Amino acid sequence: MLSTIQIKSYAKINWTLDVLFKREDGYHELRTIYQTVSLHDTLTIAETHGPIETVCDDPRVPCDETNLAFKAAQSLREATGTSRGARIEIEKRTPVAAGMGGGSSNAAATLLALVKVWQVGIDDRELFRIAAALGSDVPFFLIGGTALGVGRGEQVHPIEQVHCQHLLLVNPGFAVSTRDAYERLSRLTSSEAASIIPFALLAAKGIRELPLAARNDLEAPVLAAHPEIAEVKRRLLSLGARLAQMSGSGATVFGVFDNLKTAERSETEMRAAGYWAERARTVDRQEYHATIFQ
Ligand code: C5P
Repeated sequence: MLSTIQIKSYAKINWTLDVLFKREDGYHELRTIYQTVSLHDTLTIAETHGPIETVCDDPRVPCDETNLAFKAAQSLREATGTSRGARIEIEKRTPVAAGMGGGSSNAAATLLALVKVWQVGIDDRELFRIAAALGSDVPFFLIGGTALGVGRGEQVHPIEQVHCQHLLLVNPGFAVSTRDAYERLSRLTSSEAASIIPFALLAAKGIRELPLAARNDLEAPVLAAHPEIAEVKRRLLSLGARLAQMSGSGATVFGVFDNLKTAERSETEMRAAGYWAERARTVDRQEYHATIFQ
């Protein structure tokens, strides 16, 4: 019998994102602290006798061979030598090209699901290698929770989990290209190492203070090019967010709130102002793996 599986594809934010320098391979050397959050897409992955196909309910997502879930399935097929096919249905809830790792998460979820659906044996090292070749953020979604990303972000290390119940994710409705965000930063910082990782800060304040010690080197150059994102930050802070910061290369901004009431009120206000806004909370590594398969 051909099997079908449903998998949650969680989104991420970056508590910190420090860019150290531009490398010879064109990528930027990073230190970032990734965090999975409760917002998620849902993937339904069915084994078929045909080719690999992807379908998505959001017309902004390409369903051809450029789709990262498609590429993930293709790579796993090549690596394992299986001749099985798959139909990958993506129910999109995470904003696209928004700094929340939507495509990368879909790719990692596809790998995790297809290992089960196709019943192929592959060791973790190989799975991480495939994930890293798909994109810098993809390996993180194989582990989830709170994790440190080094290199171009693809080398991930689990760290103590950060819990935050009242997040508000706000997107101004346009996409930001990750490549453009990094190029803007390179022009600003030239050859200087941009900054030092905030571990001293973390050591002083403790991991629990991370939501307040947050920082993102891509924010200033992206905000300079897109004042609409600065406006989202300003509004979140005036609505009572303890912190409002751009996630990844933007344009999504996350707000950290003290309680449900202010988070809910802000969600209502931001939606009334025409923004996409969605409350969320952190998903730690244990919950990530316990809930990913529905
Ligand atoms: O790895 P990924 O395909 O997601 O990266 C998209 C683009 O973002 C890269 O082609 C590169 O221009 C930029 N990038 C970078 N440094 C990183 C990650 C991404 O310059 N660490």
